[in-house]
Amino acid sequence: PSRVRTVHLQQFKDRGERFSMLTSYDAMTTQIFDEAGIEVLLVGDSAANVVLGQESTLRISLEEMVVFASAVTRAASRAMVVVDAPFGTYEASAEQAVHCGVRLMKKSGAHAVKVEADASMADHVRAMVSAGIPVMAHVGFTPQSEHALGGYRIQGRGEAAQTVMNDALALQEAGAFCVLLEMVPADVAAEVDAALRVPTVGIGAGAATTGQVLVWQDMLGLNAGRVPRFVRQYAELRATMSEAVRTYRDEVRSGAFPAQEHSY
Ligand code: KIV
Ligand code: NA
Repeated sequence: PSRVRTVHLQQFKDRGERFSMLTSYDAMTTQIFDEAGIEVLLVGDSAANVVLGQESTLRISLEEMVVFASAVTRAASRAMVVVDAPFGTYEASAEQAVHCGVRLMKKSGAHAVKVEADASMADHVRAMVSAGIPVMAHVGFTPQSEHALGGYRIQGRGEAAQTVMNDALALQEAGAFCVLLEMVPADVAAEVDAALRVPTVGIGAGAATTGQVLVWQDMLGLNAGRVPRFVRQYAELRATMSEAVRTYRDEVRSGAFPAQEHSY
């Protein structure tokens, strides 16, 4: 099957169909998601949390993102691979944003770059797009601004709905091929999707967006921490792995493993 590209995501929107996106950070997981037909794989800066064990996404570097993204692009034969621009590597100017996007794509082979942005960053996005970088714009709750926004909170409630709408429209106008909406009321996300020509993808943004995205460790039940309300758990991998590892330990203790057939 051929590569999912931005034009295909646009076709989902134009036909009133929905696409799926999951985070991915390594080769084996990517193979599973790719074979399952997930259209878009996001090498999220959530790697800081779920892979590196950091408190927030703020401390992950561009070089670290390149390591994860390279593994994902090597293993994805059909999915489109989008890589997050990490905090502090693209905000200062349009020029810095282009430099960041080029480095990410050149060093990892990713097919597009996601930036957390608002209307004030439209020039950054325009410059990236002019340089040939497909840009996904992340609006609503933007985790890299966690401290500026006063923690993990829903954005776009009440009068702030207009801000989310204006950000999305400005970033579409700047050339973003898709707008990601995080933690905004479902009715606001529905209005944004209806107002935009380009597809939207939601996380905690209701069912009306063109696509949905989740962090895979959340949706497959690997994460032991608090899982947000917007997650549905489709498996309990933590329990499965824990049980298997305990059995292994018991069998090593008892001498039941390795058996004859595992020995040379
Ligand atoms: O880093 C990430 O995983 C993300 C998604 C949750 C949208 O940005
Ligand atoms: Na992210």
